[in-house]
Amino acid sequence: MAHAPERILVTGGAGFIGSHAALRLLEEGHLVTIVDDLSRGNSGAIEALRQVGPVAFVEGDIGDRDLMRQIMREQDTQCVWHFAALAYVGESVEQPLRYYRQNATASINLLSVMDELNIEKLVFSSTCATYGEPETNLIPIREDCPQQPINPYGRSKLLVEHAVRDLAIARHARGQSFHAAMLRYFNVAGSDPEGRLGEDHDPETHLIPICLEAVLGRRDSVKIFGTDYPTPDGTCIRDFVHVSDLIDAHLVAMRSLGASASDETVRAYNVGTGSGLSVREVVEACRAVTGVDFPVEEVARRPGDPPKLCADAGRIEAVLGWTAARPQIEQMVKDAWRWRQQHPFGFRSV
Ligand code: UFG
Repeated sequence: MAHAPERILVTGGAGFIGSHAALRLLEEGHLVTIVDDLSRGNSGAIEALRQVGPVAFVEGDIGDRDLMRQIMREQDTQCVWHFAALAYVGESVEQPLRYYRQNATASINLLSVMDELNIEKLVFSSTCATYGEPETNLIPIREDCPQQPINPYGRSKLLVEHAVRDLAIARHARGQSFHAAMLRYFNVAGSDPEGRLGEDHDPETHLIPICLEAVLGRRDSVKIFGTDYPTPDGTCIRDFVHVSDLIDAHLVAMRSLGASASDETVRAYNVGTGSGLSVREVVEACRAVTGVDFPVEEVARRPGDPPKLCADAGRIEAVLGWTAARPQIEQMVKDAWRWRQQHPFGFRSV
């Protein structure tokens, strides 16, 4: 079924997930405006998006209310997909105030402009890091699992979840509508299956891109952080979801916003496949897909890593009909590898 085009603001649209979101929105015929300060995003991603369709790009800070007011007024924004954030757990422990400022304060400024301009629809990029380290009997994690984040990154995202809910309550009390989907991502991997975009962080901390750098000889080895976890092979377990599937989840979530008067106006959804893979299993998948047997080094645990994070994705399936179409880790690695081979130095390769 064709859907009417909407005018959508994508914050953080030069980042890994935000750029994949913008790509899909362009393909679906929506009118896309990106705001990104390029502190973590890549201008190369914007260039890649321009090959796909007309995209308005503003380099700026989403916490700048005057700027955001001007952009959202000019573009007559109907819906915001909010990705812009800092997302390194370790860094958040070292620089907590930076995380609270850029993730929480800036988001609150963005919400206040949305409120002022009566922009009623939001899809918010939240995280499984808001759950912290759930008790074993609460894994796979459901959305009603207590949210007790163990680092400033998770806490900064949880603050925004609270602000979104409170804004919805206040607007409804004023007779104004507001609908939001808060998607709690598990470990996002892969890249555009057509190879137009990829994952390129600086610094890179994520397991699969690090393995691919080792395949390319850009690292001597991959360090496995901790082999003494209470898991079958002693390494951490994570739930990996393909970025294309994650973006599908955003699309169905957006379409559901305000679709029925009886809907809850703010809803949180886990986005994961529901199956956990150990770090060793992911390393093996990277070796198998690339055919390169890169060396690994077993080292101490990385502080702040919960032993096991795995989603119960039952709610998003039941309510929105979403399930992962590409749940195999091999597919995620294959797609990430295709882009990496073409871009051995990331977006700077072009
Ligand atoms: N790992 C290694 N070696 C590496 C890199 C990672 O062993 O070189 C391990 C980690 O210790 C972890 C697993 O691989 O057990 C996955 O690590 P990533 O850094 O790829 O991803 P995280 O699980 O740490 O992070 C993800 C999101 C964060 C989010 C977090 C919630 O990327 O944004 O989940 O815990 F906050």
